[in-house]
This record gives sequence, structure tokens and C-alpha cells, in this order.
Amino acid sequence: MKILVVGNGGRECAMANALLLSPKVKELCITPANWGVRDPFNGDRVRRADIGALDTENLIKLAKDGGSDLTVVGPEAPLAAGIVDAFREQGLRIVGPDRSAARLEAEKSFAKDFMLRHGIPTGKSEAFTDHEKALKHLDAAAYPLVLKADGLAAGKGVIICPDRDSARTALDQMMIEDKFKGAGKKVLIEECLAGPEISFFCFFDGRTAVPMPPVSDYKRLKDGDEGPNTGGMGCMCPSPYATPEVMAEWREKVLQPFIKGCRQDGFDYRGVIYFGTMVTEDGLKVLEFNVRMGDPEAQAQMPLMQNDFVDVLAAMEAGTLDALRASFSDEATVTVVMATANYPYGSSPPAPIEGLERIARFNNGGGSANGSIFRRLPRVSVFFAGVGRQADDDEALLATGGRVLAVTARGDDLSAARRLAYEAVGNIHFEGAQYRTDIALLR
Ligand code: AMP
Ligand code: GLY
Repeated sequence: MKILVVGNGGRECAMANALLLSPKVKELCITPANWGVRDPFNGDRVRRADIGALDTENLIKLAKDGGSDLTVVGPEAPLAAGIVDAFREQGLRIVGPDRSAARLEAEKSFAKDFMLRHGIPTGKSEAFTDHEKALKHLDAAAYPLVLKADGLAAGKGVIICPDRDSARTALDQMMIEDKFKGAGKKVLIEECLAGPEISFFCFFDGRTAVPMPPVSDYKRLKDGDEGPNTGGMGCMCPSPYATPEVMAEWREKVLQPFIKGCRQDGFDYRGVIYFGTMVTEDGLKVLEFNVRMGDPEAQAQMPLMQNDFVDVLAAMEAGTLDALRASFSDEATVTVVMATANYPYGSSPPAPIEGLERIARFNNGGGSANGSIFRRLPRVSVFFAGVGRQADDDEALLATGGRVLAVTARGDDLSAARRLAYEAVGNIHFEGAQYRTDIALLR
């Protein structure tokens, strides 16, 4: 098969690497280019294009001209813009929710209504499009509270407000100053919940949901959960908070009503669903739906997958997940993100990445479990996001910005995976690299 991967971050690199393990993949095209995606068998199956994830017209042309058999989309924005509908209208096979189902992520008020309609536990909230009314609500509210821009805001549209003054500032930024470019015209004012967070993921075809191992990520920039929020500085999989009791509660209270709700509401949802969830004293509460894999959660999950990922994508698209025997290793993974010096505030000058060749030695001897694909999975994987290549040298990578790369290690348990992940990270260097040293450190 020829596969087209839309999106060029670390998550898409993890999906691409998993796909390239499959002997069924004849060619994999990633767009925009990600120079860190390599054929693990030293072949020449990787193509790179330079079409943006939101340029649907040219993506369709790329898929048609390149003879793509299947397209998979990483980021949320093209899904919300209807890329799935547009591809299917052209008779092209694509994995992902259609535009109306993608509203579950793209409009938080739509997601809230869906949860209330179908009895999925979530925080109490009210939606406002009128600034005056929202202000009145802030006067009478209990603090802390949470202000959410209704639309997509690249992960920055949720603000926890300790008091009325900070809520007023945040409200004005959203509704008056239009800081989130339209996404804050409507806001949700939500009760503030507390507890550990778990990200639950499923492959979904509209009828059958196949759970992946749950993940907990680390959103703050610095150790000890200090510093600004980021796209995610690392994660651990499976999440230690996902006890058997919590898993059972999630299946019964969240997953089952979700599946039923999608059928009742007539969604064409053939893609990954991600439930951002908090374990509160009152039980699980869903904070948000995402209609895609997570970044860096995918980098932690893909190295545990024992299926041929091509089969999984094809089954999602064809609606035949009920016949798929999905399997994940019962080992653990820890993912540590290495970012540039100025992340998340600004850019840094490009810097050569050194030491990548030393990672190979972690992988001599291969995996520890049975299964043909599994034996090919490395113990340590490096997934690239903000990288370019040095002039005329495809092998030499440059750190160009943001979350440059993610190192994932696999081990018998989280502490073994953690030890190995940091040993690997210690071998990789670029000027100004910053990373957290407390990922998966359980107190
Ligand atoms: P979201 O984009 O909705 O997942 O929100 C991003 C982050 O904001 C979550 O991972 C939580 O840490 C936090 N958050 C969202 N909703 C709430 C809430 N109701 N109470 C407390 N924290 C929240
Ligand atoms: N890591 C959070 C996300 O992908 O939304």
C-alpha cells in the first residue's frame, strides 16, 4: 500500500515509524516534510512533500497523483475543517472523523451537550456568547473556576482562574481582545475539578472501540509541574492512575455511552478518539474529547503496539474493527521530550543534534516478547518533530524549533522504562536543549 500521513510533528513521526515496520507499506509520504522519518530497513520507501495540513485541495491532488491507498491525519485542525469529507467525496480512503464528528473537539460546547445528552460525567459548565452575561456570571461564581475558549486554540484555550480578577482578564482576552482568533467568541465557564489526569484512547469505527493503553502526560515545562503549559513535555504509558477499578469505571460510564451516543447521533466516526479525563473524588469526569492521537501520547503508545498498524488503520476505515485482534504489549513506556532553549515562548537558532548514532546500541538484542512485529520494535525510539537537515546531508539533523524530539524507552515497568529513557536522553545533545528530569517519577 501507499500511505499518506498528513502532519509532520512527533505524533505523526511515531505513526509513520509504526507504519514503516509493516511489509505491506510500499511507500509512505509525509507532508509537510519531516526529515526525522526514516525507513527502518534502510530502504527508500519514504517520500516527503511540502503541502500544509490545511491545504485540502492540494492534499487531494497529492493523494491522487501519488496513488495513495490510504491517508491518515495527525492534527485536529484539518479534521475540523472537513478533510475527511473532502477526501471521501473524491473516492479517496482516509482515516478520521468527518467534519460533524470532529466538532466533538472543535467546539467545546458541542462536546458538553453531547456528554449531557448521553450521560457522560463531566464538569458543570455554562456557555456564553454575550460578554455582559458572562461577566455577571463571574460576579456570582465560586473560585477557582475554569474559562475555556469554545473553539480550537492550539491547546492554549483553557485558563484556570483563581479569582474574579484573573477570570475577568481571561474573559476579556477571549471575548474582547480576540486573543484566540475567533475561538473565544463563545466561552465556557466551568467548575474547577481536581485530581490526576488520564488520557484514554481508542481506535474507533463508529461501532467498535478498541482501547489503547492509557497515558498520563506532563503538560508543564519544568520539573515539579512548574512553568508554563506546553504541548506536553513527556508521558508514561500505561498510566499508573488507571487502576483496574478506574478502567472498569471508564468503560461503563464513559466509553459505552460514547459509542451509543455516536450511533444515536449518526456520526461517521472512523478514527482515533481521545478522552481527556480527570479522576476526581466524585469519580471520573471527562474534560474534553480529542478526535485524534495525542502528542506526545502517540510516541508512548506506538512502541507498545503489536499489530501491523496498516491493518488497524484499514479496519478503522472499513468499519471492521470488530474482526481485528488488537494487541499491545503489557510492558511500559516512558517518553521524554527535548525542546529548544526558548520553547514555548519563541524560536531558537538551528543547532546540530549530536549523539543519535549512540541510540542504536540500546536496540541490539531487540525486544523481549514474542510476535514478529514486536521483535522488530526497538527498546529505545527517537521521534522527531522540530528538525531540519544540514545542507546536503540527509543524515545530519538540525534542531529547528519547539519540541524537537521525543525519546521513548520500553521496559518491564515504568521505573525500568524511565531509567532507560533518561539514559538515552543523556546521549543526545543540541545547544540549549531543555527537558524535564521528573517524567514518570512516582512519589
Ligand atoms: P483541555 O484542553 O480541555 O484538556 O484542558 C487542558 C487542561 O486544562 C486539562 O488537561 C486540565 O489540566 C485542565 N482542565 C480542563 N478542564 C478543567 C477543569 N474543569 N478543572 C480543572 N482543570 C481543567
Ligand atoms: N498531549 C495533549 C494533546 O495531544 O492534546
